[in-house]
Amino acid sequence: MELRSHHFVNGINMHRIFIALASASVFIPACFIYNDSIAKFPFKTLEIFTCKALETFSFKTLEIPETETSAVEAKPGGANSTALPTAEGGGDGRKQEPESLKENEIPNDKDCDLFTGNWVFDNVTHPLYREGECRFMTAQFTCLRNGRRDSLYQNWRWQPRDCSLPKFRPRLLLEKLRNKRMMFVGDSLNRNQWESMICLVQSVVPPASKSLNKTGSLSVFKIEDYNATVEFYWAPFLVESNSDDPNSHSVLDRIIMPNSIQKHANNWQNVDYLIFNTYIWWMNSPVTKILRGSFAQNSTEYDVVERPAAYRSVLDTWSHWVDENVDSNRSKVFFMSMSPYHTNGLDWGNPEGVKCAKETAPLVDTMAAALDVGTYRNLFAAVANVTVAMRVPVSFFNITRLSKYRKDAHTTVYTIRQGKILTAEQKADPAKFADCIHWCLPGVPDTWNELLYTRIISNS
Ligand SMILES: *[C@@H]1O[C@H](CO)[C@@H](O)[C@H](O)[C@H]1NC(C)=O
Ligand SMILES: *[C@@H]1O[C@H](CO)[C@@H](O)[C@H](O)[C@H]1NC(C)=O
Ligand SMILES: *[C@@H]1O[C@H](CO)[C@@H](O)[C@H](O)[C@H]1NC(C)=O
Ligand SMILES: *[C@@H]1O[C@H](CO)[C@@H](O)[C@H](O)[C@H]1NC(C)=O
Ligand SMILES: *[C@@H]1O[C@H](CO)[C@@H](O)[C@H](O)[C@H]1NC(C)=O
Ligand SMILES: *[C@@H]1O[C@H](CO)[C@@H](O)[C@H](O)[C@H]1NC(C)=O
Ligand SMILES: *[C@@H]1O[C@H](CO)[C@@H](O)[C@H](O)[C@H]1NC(C)=O
Ligand SMILES: *[C@@H]1O[C@H](CO)[C@@H](O)[C@H](O)[C@H]1NC(C)=O
Repeated sequence: MELRSHHFVNGINMHRIFIALASASVFIPACFIYNDSIAKFPFKTLEIFTCKALETFSFKTLEIPETETSAVEAKPGGANSTALPTAEGGGDGRKQEPESLKENEIPNDKDCDLFTGNWVFDNVTHPLYREGECRFMTAQFTCLRNGRRDSLYQNWRWQPRDCSLPKFRPRLLLEKLRNKRMMFVGDSLNRNQWESMICLVQSVVPPASKSLNKTGSLSVFKIEDYNATVEFYWAPFLVESNSDDPNSHSVLDRIIMPNSIQKHANNWQNVDYLIFNTYIWWMNSPVTKILRGSFAQNSTEYDVVERPAAYRSVLDTWSHWVDENVDSNRSKVFFMSMSPYHTNGLDWGNPEGVKCAKETAPLVDTMAAALDVGTYRNLFAAVANVTVAMRVPVSFFNITRLSKYRKDAHTTVYTIRQGKILTAEQKADPAKFADCIHWCLPGVPDTWNELLYTRIISNS
């Protein structure tokens, strides 16, 4: 690691940070060498490395598993999808359902904080769809099909403390989306949520009226009957970075351009519902590399900045773009708070645990409230702070805590790496191969979308 210069980055005096880094630099190489040796594994493990010598930096790093999935699609009717009480067999099974909303069904934002509550076991209403019913779900998230044996993780419903969520009615949402575009922008967790959203709505759309087109960074699910789209745009840092290739983005040495957003943002113009996130890609290093020059000029020199400062700088760039480009009369903007990972059983009092691999039940309330399961508070606070101060109203979606309870719901070893389902040998080694970042579907991202649905139908 080289500290090449003292710089002002977006008005932040980096001098102090560089001094701090320089004085600690004796210890840093040890951490990075360890990290590099891990990088030689074909599959990057999910362990958190803590370099004790650098406590002051909260020196946690995290590797993200391969998330490229476009090549592999799950086929419907997976051999081990669970039997549900309401077997509707896909297609238009829900047609008879009246899609009108009862007045008292819409929670009032002022009276009810949707994000404070509990998970309730409810195998009558949840899951909202079956894994094998949704051919658009990629193999990264089809846990049962990939061999997971327990399925209770699908049966939990989020119950806000002071109100109840309205029943998810796909047709009602599609009416809101008529002649409109909805777009998820961000990393693989947002793609996880996007796939969930497709699966939530697609069951009421006849096969000939729905299609999925993946072109470069943009994936578009189109519903012809409604002239509506549900889209995903890959931009793991929101701003330009060397990890922007939607297919081969497993870059270990990540470099970003915090002030450069236009190239991506051109694709977000005139979208009616924009849902952003950025978090997990920041977690593999406590510092962030900032390119001098540009990727287009093949620049290679960079400055090294402390992570929270770089994150804040990206949020500033993003919020300026939104404030200048989004017509708040037309579009609604949401920002998902970070999705927590569960890599250390000690965090929830299970020293026998192998990451999250053996977990089959959510955390109980009292424990979860006291926990910070691997999330980085500063980044959470930065998003909360920036979004309240914008001209365009942005709905900060505080899903971190409610998701923290769900140590049972990650894909673990029932997922893919480099486009292939894990082998029996890899499945037998969850300490190395379990993915405790992404979520099985149906699962937790459905709940995020139930919350999004609640906001969308009540604000119009
Ligand atoms: C739902 O859960 C209850 C309580 O655990 C159980 O008795 C029942 O068999 C379950 N129903 C289904 C369809 O799984
Ligand atoms: C986020 O939600 C949790 C409850 O889930 C609450 O304790 C916390 O204060 C909320 N934070 C913000 C910034 O809204
Ligand atoms: C699920 O399917 C996988 C692959 O087809 C198989 O190996 C596994 O045994 C199945 N699990 C159950 C519970 O049937
Ligand atoms: C279809 O939706 C797009 C937005 O996605 C809109 O621009 C266009 O006007 C719509 N077409 C019709 C016929 O309403
Ligand atoms: C997919 O979208 C791209 C870019 O908009 C377009 O050029 C292509 O024709 C589309 N493919 C299909 C099969 O619709
Ligand atoms: C950057 O590198 C590419 C590929 O090596 C090359 O085609 C291009 O001309 C270079 N651009 C500049 C500005 O040097
Ligand atoms: C939004 O609508 C209001 C009321 O119709 C109008 O006064 C305002 O100028 C509009 N804002 C924009 C950005 O178009
Ligand atoms: C967020 O705002 C609070 C209150 O203004 C402030 O104390 C805190 O430092 C801010 N945090 C970040 C990360 O910006």
